[in-house]
Amino acid sequence: MSRKGILLAGGTGSRLWPITLGTSKQLLPIYDKPMVYYPISVLMLAGIREIAIITTPEDQPQFQRLLGDGSQWGVSFTWIIQERPEGLAQAYLLTRDFLDGAPSAMVLGDNIFFGHGLPEILLRANAQPSGGTVFGYHVSDPERYGVAAFDASGKVTQIIEKPKVPPSNFAITGLYFLDGRAPDIAAGIGPSPRGELEIVDVLEHYRAEGSLQVERMGRGFAWLDTGTPGSLLDAGNFVRTLQDRQGMQVGSPDEIAFRQGWITRDGLAERAKVFGKSSYGAHLDGVLKE
Ligand code: TTP
Repeated sequence: MSRKGILLAGGTGSRLWPITLGTSKQLLPIYDKPMVYYPISVLMLAGIREIAIITTPEDQPQFQRLLGDGSQWGVSFTWIIQERPEGLAQAYLLTRDFLDGAPSAMVLGDNIFFGHGLPEILLRANAQPSGGTVFGYHVSDPERYGVAAFDASGKVTQIIEKPKVPPSNFAITGLYFLDGRAPDIAAGIGPSPRGELEIVDVLEHYRAEGSLQVERMGRGFAWLDTGTPGSLLDAGNFVRTLQDRQGMQVGSPDEIAFRQGWITRDGLAERAKVFGKSSYGAHLDGVLKE
């Protein structure tokens, strides 16, 4: 069964109030593109073409206006509502029918990944037939995240949510490759003291049975936070710096769809025309001329 994607793009975005009182955090710009383009690009790079998009009830029409049914990128979007932000693991309950027993890759709508070799590590995770794969990223402030503890041999011994005394500097990023049992496992956990279904509890289940791989993303990768005004601006500047210097796009689903062979040259030309004079459109023109 091929792996299906989940884009989790609900939440309250309260650390960005008042900006996110009127719109979803995941629709805000990261330099020249809406934030969701970046995590969608990650799923597409992993080779995933069936994607469920989870949003709040209020924001769903705006997401649909932006993203349509996915056919412009040769993928299909299934729209699912999360009534209240009751935790990341709730996504697996909401997508049970959509997944229909298939393994999944879930990405948080506010996570941005960049790095040499990213497609390879994504394809490797996608190819795992069972168990789970998550990514550990070295951060200076692990106490803000789910953190992995390792034993002397490098094997993961625990995943702990926001530990006061972090056992390592490796935060678990918002990208989770889990096998087809994830909805059942999520159904078996209860809410945490903060009232949420915690992804860490699902991961701990896999870890305890010895089927969780924590792949470390090395220093050649960027995993960017976008949840606060400062980190949002920093992420935009990061993307701008890279793109201006290299003349290449970070997180362009149009370009990825074309390179994956999911849309034709004519399809991409059509898209370039849609974007007209914008810098994004100019970039797609550049891809066509290569
Ligand atoms: P968070 O950053 O934990 O929460 P948030 O986006 O609501 O922001 P804040 O803390 O400022 O209030 O969420 C991480 C990602 O997961 C983000 O993309 C939103 C999404 N999310 C959901 O879609 N549903 C949920 O129930 C939760 C908790 C998060």
